[in-house]
Amino acid sequence: MENLKYLLDKYNAPVPRYTSYPPANHFTDEFTAQDYHQAIIQSNIEGDSNVSFYLHIPFCKRMCYYCGCNSCPMAEQNIVNRYVQALKKEVNLVSEALDSKRKLSQIHYGGGTPNSIDLRYIKELNELIFSKFETIENPEIAIECHPGYLEQGDLELLTQAGFNRFSLGIQDFSDDVLKKSNREPSKIPVGDLISSIKELNPKAKVNLDFIYGLPGQTRESFNNTIRQAAELRPDRIVTFSYAHVPWVNKLQLHLEEIGLPEQNDKIEMYFSSARLLKELGYIQIGFDHYVLPDDELNIAFEQKQLHRNFQGYSTRSTTGQVYAFGVSAISQLESAYSQNTKSIEDYIKILDNNHLPTEKGYQLRQAEKQIGELITYFLCNKELKFDLIANQLELSLIDLMRLLKIDFRSLSEFESDGIIEFSTGTMRVTDIGMLFIRNVAGEFDPIYAGKTNKYSKSV
Ligand SMILES: C[S@@+](CC[C@H](N)C(=O)[O-])C[C@H]1O[C@@H](n2cnc3c(N)ncnc32)[C@H](O)[C@@H]1O
Ligand code: SF4
Repeated sequence: MENLKYLLDKYNAPVPRYTSYPPANHFTDEFTAQDYHQAIIQSNIEGDSNVSFYLHIPFCKRMCYYCGCNSCPMAEQNIVNRYVQALKKEVNLVSEALDSKRKLSQIHYGGGTPNSIDLRYIKELNELIFSKFETIENPEIAIECHPGYLEQGDLELLTQAGFNRFSLGIQDFSDDVLKKSNREPSKIPVGDLISSIKELNPKAKVNLDFIYGLPGQTRESFNNTIRQAAELRPDRIVTFSYAHVPWVNKLQLHLEEIGLPEQNDKIEMYFSSARLLKELGYIQIGFDHYVLPDDELNIAFEQKQLHRNFQGYSTRSTTGQVYAFGVSAISQLESAYSQNTKSIEDYIKILDNNHLPTEKGYQLRQAEKQIGELITYFLCNKELKFDLIANQLELSLIDLMRLLKIDFRSLSEFESDGIIEFSTGTMRVTDIGMLFIRNVAGEFDPIYAGKTNKYSKSV
């Protein structure tokens, strides 16, 4: 614990999450809708040929105080309707630029709360997408759902609409913790939701999301929640570290007033829930995902094929290039990122005029693609074999070192602090070092300025 305190004092600084490289705060408004259109056309002939669609539904029936997502209070029915029509238009515009022979590997609805709107809209959107592209053999059709609003009839409709992965935002099983966070508990017992989903489609998968670091949580209470979760045997469990970013969402200030857990308690929640999930048969993927041993993410991890994008971990076969729709949504193409406007009014207006709603983005240079690939590889595999990664990036070892501008003094400091260890050309993150894996990734990022408040802290 003494050592941990030393490490926290030294390394618990704001660090990028590296869901993209460069991180989204480097996107620029010099990247226009025309650039995005051009990037879509270019993506037909370079990079992964699979097509992955992300659709953003920003609305929420009630705002949770801790929320760090791009979400907003439920709009009037008329605006929701216009928003869905704009989404359809955006799907049509992007699909016109896409090679229709490319196959769809994934659709992911995130938010906000996709199940806060009439689910018939979601079904219509899926029908539109399926009418445009053939799918790979087992596409992943996923939706993030707030269980407070899920009923049996909804599960039936979503299964009919093609969904085969359901992420349920549980956050905590304690009513007290949820109440302090201004959040409703599940309408139907979570175990019954999981059984219903699997009865409707035996191949369907269920993820449960949790957050540690919320008011009212203790190490014991969070362990109870995680034990209950593991007993339900969902396919995946995710334990998010609460990201406190009140400069993005002022509602989070309520949680400061109620009282957030001490940093040590938060770290204990992470380590003890990780230990517990391991004992209960789950395998840890990356920092915060836990899966059953036969899960495709574990198989991909063992084959060094695990991948990661804005939507989380995925396998190389389901990822594809990501084309994103809706407000604030970020597309991740081989050579460019493009982010849509965050304003619902602007989004609807721009699409009414048949234009793409790009607000900013980034055109990637070759060196940035290589650095991004290396950082993703490192965060997924928790290790780097320098000669292997150089080979993968088609670089000599010397060119790789030049590209990364590594400060070897910092790496040897990470090593002497027990965060990483080296053996025969491989750099590995230790168990305790997982808390600071993003700090180590920052060493491979020549533009990471450090000591800025634009990012959430490592822990
Ligand atoms: C878009 S929400 C999921 C769908 C739905 N809105 C819900 O809340 O159930 C995605 C997930 O992000 C996580 N999350 C939201 N705010 C967070 C924060 N400030 N820190 C860490 N995780 C957060 C929650 O676990 C949530 O389930
Ligand atoms: S956590 Fe989910 S339901 Fe709560 S405000 Fe954020 S997006 Fe909405």
